[in-house]
Amino acid sequence: MSKLFIEGCHRLNGAVAVHGAKNSALPILAAALMADGVSELQNCPGLSDVDASVAILRHLGCRVEREGHRILVDNTGLSGSDIPDDLMREMRSSIVFLGAIAAKTGAAVLSFPGGCELGPRPIDLHLAALRQLGMAIEEERGQLRCRVRGRLKGCKIPLSFPSVGATENILLAAATAEGTTTILNAAREPEIEDLAAFLNSSGARIRGAGEGTVVIEGVDRLSACCHRVIPDRIETATYMAAAAVTGGSLVIKDVEPAHVATVFPAFEEMGCQIDVWKNELLVSAPARLRRVRSVRTMPYPGFPTDCQALLMAMACVADGTSVFIENIFESRYKHAGELMRLGAK
Ligand code: UD1
Repeated sequence: MSKLFIEGCHRLNGAVAVHGAKNSALPILAAALMADGVSELQNCPGLSDVDASVAILRHLGCRVEREGHRILVDNTGLSGSDIPDDLMREMRSSIVFLGAIAAKTGAAVLSFPGGCELGPRPIDLHLAALRQLGMAIEEERGQLRCRVRGRLKGCKIPLSFPSVGATENILLAAATAEGTTTILNAAREPEIEDLAAFLNSSGARIRGAGEGTVVIEGVDRLSACCHRVIPDRIETATYMAAAAVTGGSLVIKDVEPAHVATVFPAFEEMGCQIDVWKNELLVSAPARLRRVRSVRTMPYPGFPTDCQALLMAMACVADGTSVFIENIFESRYKHAGELMRLGAK
């Protein structure tokens, strides 16, 4: 879709259901190539990044079937270990395939992911961790050439920053490594727990996912399982913000309230009321939002960087001055200029 037309001044009321989390589905699709047999993924969102992951799996020789939000991945025909440049470019997060491909096939060749609209996105933490596990990685002319002799070897990996992608790559590579791997200062995002849940259902032995220290006891092999992807917390917060900016009232269904609880205080400070039932939220917004004193993005369970732009849009129509501090990505204020073109101060 190249254009969206939005007619303003309509209160949003009603009910809407949330899809499965993209940021869970992508690493789990990568994990599926390691699990022997036919893995079944339920609640997989229909997004272009998922299409790109499916294209990578098919390129590698996996058979992939899609039926609505259900994806079946059969790794029986897995024969490749490279991701062509055009597929790498389609999705920056395809770097998460690195740990899975190299652990499963003993080699991986892919191009270096470039920067993106959020600024430079280095992968130094991914590469340092994979090297610690014993992967030989050569970087030449924008290409990564990785080789594993025998099996990777478990070790202690302290991360200088709790990178989500690096934590995922380590989980994937260490799941079938020899011995025990301990990640210190691991990312604690719910999507990490979801990836570990998929891997554990496939036979991996991972403890502590969702906490700062994760222990992975390597197993010989993984076998396919059936897994339901967790609800998308960013999509949930997006609908919450849509209710908030329009002074509306929305019931948001199929959510995991615990995963979005980190954004509740900011919404409440701005005057929204949030009622929580089991897997549903009712967000009721006032006619005029109040300012939020400050939004500081932090790794989970801090305020998510992916929700910073949403709160900024809300702050534009709120009474008073709100302050934003982005701590995760260097250039994540591009929306500010666009909001100013719409008349925001
Ligand atoms: C994931 C999410 C993204 C979210 C982000 C932070 C996916 C597909 N994407 O991205 O939506 O905004 O977490 O919650 O799950 N960094 C390094 N070196 C590295 C890796 C990261 O310096 O090797 C830096 C990054 O430049 C960035 C910060 O660490 O400044 C956070 O990155 P990371 O947690 O890795 O985010 P992603 O996994 O890329």
